[in-house]
Amino acid sequence: MSNKIKVMSLFGTRPEAIKMVPVVRALEGCSEIESVVCLSGQHREMLLQVLEAFDLKADFNLDIMKPRQTITTITSGVLEGLSEVLERERPDLLLVHGDTTTAFAGALGGFYSQVAVGHVEAGLRTFDKYSPYPEEMNRCLISRLGDLHFAPTKANRQNLLKEAIAESGIFVTGNTVIDALKLTVQKNYQFQNAFLNTLDFEQNRVVLVTAHRRENLGEPLKNICTAIKRMVEENEDVRVVYPVHLNPAVREVAEGVLGGMDRVHLIEPLDVFDMHNLMDRCFMVMTDSGGLQEEAPALGKPVLVLRTETERPEAVEYGTVKMAGVETERILSLANELLRDAAAYEKMAHAANPYGDGNAAERIVDAILYHFGKGNKPDEFVI
Ligand code: UD1
Ligand code: UDP
Repeated sequence: MSNKIKVMSLFGTRPEAIKMVPVVRALEGCSEIESVVCLSGQHREMLLQVLEAFDLKADFNLDIMKPRQTITTITSGVLEGLSEVLERERPDLLLVHGDTTTAFAGALGGFYSQVAVGHVEAGLRTFDKYSPYPEEMNRCLISRLGDLHFAPTKANRQNLLKEAIAESGIFVTGNTVIDALKLTVQKNYQFQNAFLNTLDFEQNRVVLVTAHRRENLGEPLKNICTAIKRMVEENEDVRVVYPVHLNPAVREVAEGVLGGMDRVHLIEPLDVFDMHNLMDRCFMVMTDSGGLQEEAPALGKPVLVLRTETERPEAVEYGTVKMAGVETERILSLANELLRDAAAYEKMAHAANPYGDGNAAERIVDAILYHFGKGNKPDEFVI
């Protein structure tokens, strides 16, 4: 019988995969741990794209994705599939990541099987139950269900303490997204996507756009796309690159408002290496994504957040991120300010790393060893 600590990592969407790759690699590199990977398959193509990019192999895939799926079907699919895998594998710890429904159903499934749950990227809060929806409530519920909480920042730990989560289970580690960026961003990078290699980043100001959130579907996304359209019409040297999420509800709106425009490039989801290197070269980022709000500041790129709130206030405090909301006029005016006022741009365009130092995965593994009585408590990530 092996006396290794068996750690199962469960994830199923693109951002979870990107942020869990460094953790899985660190677990695999630890001789005292047996690492098992279980995919929920909440995403299909967008998940496989990340696994292939990092050459990561999974042991199990619950393969639950359905076109236009609902949070109910995701929850029940993960719960059903996971219980069999947990009964068979009986890990010492189940790791879930962030705020997706895969992560919430995973934590609940772990609890049902009486397997300890570790939560990577714990303690982020907007304090608004319905925004982001369902992510805010997913996070709160995972914290209740979890045993170990890997909080990216001290502020995230404070949020957990206010909810009476036991301090002994909380570790401030930094966010593993910064570990991932260290693996992907390279000088003189050649894009795999041939179109990106044709972009002239000197002659054109390339604005990188992503938008897909559930609460933005419909009218807010239409407003966002209209602001982007007008920004391009009003600024001749601007080119927009918008890799469009595979959700048909996103595609219909993006194509409806922006399709066929000369300097707007609606492209397929990018490989994560292409995405991070495009971010490194672009002029600015406009997004409703959580991950991009963390990545772009590390690369010194101003971000306009296309949402009404954020669970990631650190970069707003550091001045590299601004909340632009979901109303056309405000988004347009903030974008035009960055495009036309060099001083305003310079004020936002500086590298800030409030989310991590690239060693989060190592701290998480050290914290797991410590929890199981096999090592010292890791030093905290300090901004
Ligand atoms: C999910 C997460 C969200 C996260 C986002 C990252 C939930 C409730 N939402 O939202 O927190 O920010 O992932 O992208 O957990 N689709 C495909 N192929 C894919 C992926 C998606 O065709 O590889 C289509 C399917 O029609 C699917 C739809 O997109 O039904 C929506 O996917 P879903 O995972 O439900 O929602 P996301 O908006 O991706
Ligand atoms: N990303 C990518 N290709 C794309 C769009 C995004 O690799 O075409 C990466 C992005 O750099 C970030 C993550 O995917 O690391 C964010 O995922 P997403 O926007 O789907 O989810 P969120 O961050 O909103 O949860």
